[in-house]
Amino acid sequence: MRMVDVIIKKRNGLELSEEEIRFFVEGFTSGEIPSYQASSLAMAILFKGMNKKEIGILTDAMLHSGETIDLSSIEGIKVDKHSTGGVGDKTSLVLGPLVAACGVKLAKMSGRGLGHTGGTLDKLESIPGCKIGLSREEFINQVNKYGLAIVGQTGNLVPADKKLYALRDVTGTVESIPLIASSIMSKKLASGSDTILLDVKFGSGAFMKDIDQARLLARTMVDIGDHLHRDTRAILTDMDQPLGLAIGNSLEVIEAINTLNGKGPSDLVELCLGAGAIMLMQAKKTSSIEEGRKLLQEKIDNKEALEKLCDLVRAQGGDESYIRDPSKFEKAKYIIAIKAENEGYVKQINALEIGDSAMRLGAGRATYDDVIDPSSGIVLSKKVGDKVNVGDVLCTVYTNKEDNASILKDIHDSFKLSSDIVKINPIIYEVIK
Ligand code: URA
Repeated sequence: MRMVDVIIKKRNGLELSEEEIRFFVEGFTSGEIPSYQASSLAMAILFKGMNKKEIGILTDAMLHSGETIDLSSIEGIKVDKHSTGGVGDKTSLVLGPLVAACGVKLAKMSGRGLGHTGGTLDKLESIPGCKIGLSREEFINQVNKYGLAIVGQTGNLVPADKKLYALRDVTGTVESIPLIASSIMSKKLASGSDTILLDVKFGSGAFMKDIDQARLLARTMVDIGDHLHRDTRAILTDMDQPLGLAIGNSLEVIEAINTLNGKGPSDLVELCLGAGAIMLMQAKKTSSIEEGRKLLQEKIDNKEALEKLCDLVRAQGGDESYIRDPSKFEKAKYIIAIKAENEGYVKQINALEIGDSAMRLGAGRATYDDVIDPSSGIVLSKKVGDKVNVGDVLCTVYTNKEDNASILKDIHDSFKLSSDIVKINPIIYEVIK
């Protein structure tokens, strides 16, 4: 078989056979197929697409390009969730302890933040002592003992995706639904859980800017899960404004703790209850969404979920006294209130701009090598739909950067006001299964 013929076939809009797809993935991973041919095929896929069968085979081939994780020594159904990334998304820090408190096992591999989006690993590392690199054995033992672990990727999982994603990034081929779906799902499937819940975000702060694209991505990923016999469901959630109030690593950990103490912002609480109820059904703990929501709420009210977060932090070497007393987290040197200059109703808080500003304050990284300042970020005082009077605090900025005037202006300008009452959109738009 010649790679050039595979490229031409896809360029002409034809369906690739299983042999052709596996030939490409295996050859590219081993280095026999050069990058220029792989990027040419990626571009042909971007323009001509792939059908369900091709996407299923591509995902399976990528999934088996390296190690996979065997979680069979963990008893019970292992659940996983994945967010396509956003601003202020601390859901895993709330949802993990919540479902674990209900007796469900979560063995989760998370990622780091890049650009305007945050990452769970950076948030965990803002808790003094908390480490995210466990050995395979420690990871499995921890899930068996406490019901949850959240770590960085271990081992050589999906090397085909590592190579292909790096290539797509520099060849204008990131925005292809078959390539995104197979990239995300191959990694999720390789990490070994029995069920997957995908939180596909849409809006200004998300990878997918509009709901139709998000729906198509979600549908494609759920179909891949079905094809490979893994219970996969998806929710489409709003990322037009940041999730919750806090953006920035230790600030988000504090918000997660508040949420587990029953004092979370309403959108984050709703997302955690809605997503958690689906995960409990996937784990066969409950038989309806209502039953799941009730159980999850009980675990907040009786503080069992908060105890699970303490277990997670302690087991991963962190100082749990910060969870019990979040006032211990180090504060940024400069704490600045941004006030409204006009009155009205908040129409928009541009999540992309807020995420980008938080990154410039020190909360994120522009490139993989940047070092994060865990105490910096933004805490919103107003959300979309809220009434604002002149002089009201819109948000508070936390930073150690002295030269911050242009960032403060950009944060102020991310808030758009309207003189009319603004309708609030639900956080979970749709469930796909
Ligand atoms: N995230 C991934 O892991 N892969 C993509 O292709 C896009 C986003």
